[in-house]
Amino acid sequence: MNEQSTRIFRAASRAKYNEGYMPGFGNDFETEALEGALPIGQNSPQRCPYGLYAEQLSGTPFTAPRETNKRSWLYRMRPTVQHIGDMARIDLPHWRSAPTVGESDLPLAPMRWDPAPIPADAGTFLTGMRTISTGGDVHTQTGFAIHTYAVTESMESEVFWNADGEMLVVPEVGALRFFTEMGVIDIAPGEIAVLPRGIKVKVLLAGEDQARGYICENYGDHFTCPERGPIGANCLANRRDFLSPVAAYEQRDGEAHRVVVKWGGTFNACEIDHSPLDVVAWHGNYTPYKYNLRHFSPVGPILNDHADPSIFTVLTAPSGTPGTANIDFVIFPPRWLVAEDSFRPPWYHMNVMSEFMGLIEGVYDAKPQGFVPGGMSLHNMMLPHGPDAEAFYGASLKELTPQKLDNTLAFMFETRFPQQLTRYAAGLPTLQVKYPDCWQGLRNHFDPARPVWNGE
Ligand SMILES: [Fe+2]
Repeated sequence: MNEQSTRIFRAASRAKYNEGYMPGFGNDFETEALEGALPIGQNSPQRCPYGLYAEQLSGTPFTAPRETNKRSWLYRMRPTVQHIGDMARIDLPHWRSAPTVGESDLPLAPMRWDPAPIPADAGTFLTGMRTISTGGDVHTQTGFAIHTYAVTESMESEVFWNADGEMLVVPEVGALRFFTEMGVIDIAPGEIAVLPRGIKVKVLLAGEDQARGYICENYGDHFTCPERGPIGANCLANRRDFLSPVAAYEQRDGEAHRVVVKWGGTFNACEIDHSPLDVVAWHGNYTPYKYNLRHFSPVGPILNDHADPSIFTVLTAPSGTPGTANIDFVIFPPRWLVAEDSFRPPWYHMNVMSEFMGLIEGVYDAKPQGFVPGGMSLHNMMLPHGPDAEAFYGASLKELTPQKLDNTLAFMFETRFPQQLTRYAAGLPTLQVKYPDCWQGLRNHFDPARPVWNGE
């Protein structure tokens, strides 16, 4: 993303960008693809308009507090009980669920991988999923799985729902279309989508003939916008920039469809004779949504020092402990660096939280070499990390003037759980076995007779 394209995007196309979506995070939306399909003033009339069935989809317990309660009412051709048939277990061996403890026997170290090439036969969003790490336990609705995906084939007659968690999708190559039962979401690199637990979706290639990216499957409480504290009522990710789709349906009776359900870490499939994407109208606040990361309004140090990366949190999935996320989604977007007399890149660090990073485009300032778009790094719980030697000496010795960090869009999934690598991730030939060497060039400059260090 260059500055010019960002500016054009912001100035010219807001209305067009929102077309087909409704703005707002967690709003109570209502939408109908056919006029009059939505009951007025009640959820469950004796007979719904057009003979549709009313069905409630609950993303939280009925009794969850109002501010976190999530549910939607769907008005559809058939209730979901008719969208499942005789289920049989299927195998998607590379899509793993927590816990994956003990799968990796790699020595303890900070880790980094080059991007894995997209295989020509990667297949669909389901078969192309590769789990990298997990934490927590899918059976207790805590924790997460981090995946990469490679897609070369659309799900034309296959529909999926994930009972285990919501999925935050971060594309890096290629555009995707999520035809969900609540409407259509299109995303390209630079945007993200969140597909809530239980929502039916088929994933289609949208443009190019291949796609690649990252996914966080969140087993815990829903992603939400972080508190802003003293920052106030604006900046970071603003609620108006989250977009939920307007209702859209397909009527494909008599056409064979395969339904796949992920439940408790297992995969189950059945055949039905119609499309389950048959919701004509819906209302509620439990919805899929998308967000353009270019709309993030960063806040940062305007005099000195490097602020904690939490200032770049887009979404947070809380745990029961305040400030201790099940998982956070954090980005490092283009921004100005203006701090005086400061080491501007991230500092050296050890963390009780675990940090998985990916790069969507450009260069990440703390790792100018070796961390490329589509790659990933894992700085696990209480393992040291920080700028490589090149970044350290560059930032320590340069003359500090206001600097625009452009051509960069990195992100982090940060979690309270230690991340347990999968066998797949541990065996990837793209693993950079010499990654820790990037810090070997850091010299010991200490000289008790020389309090001012000038870079020698
Ligand atoms: Fe860190």
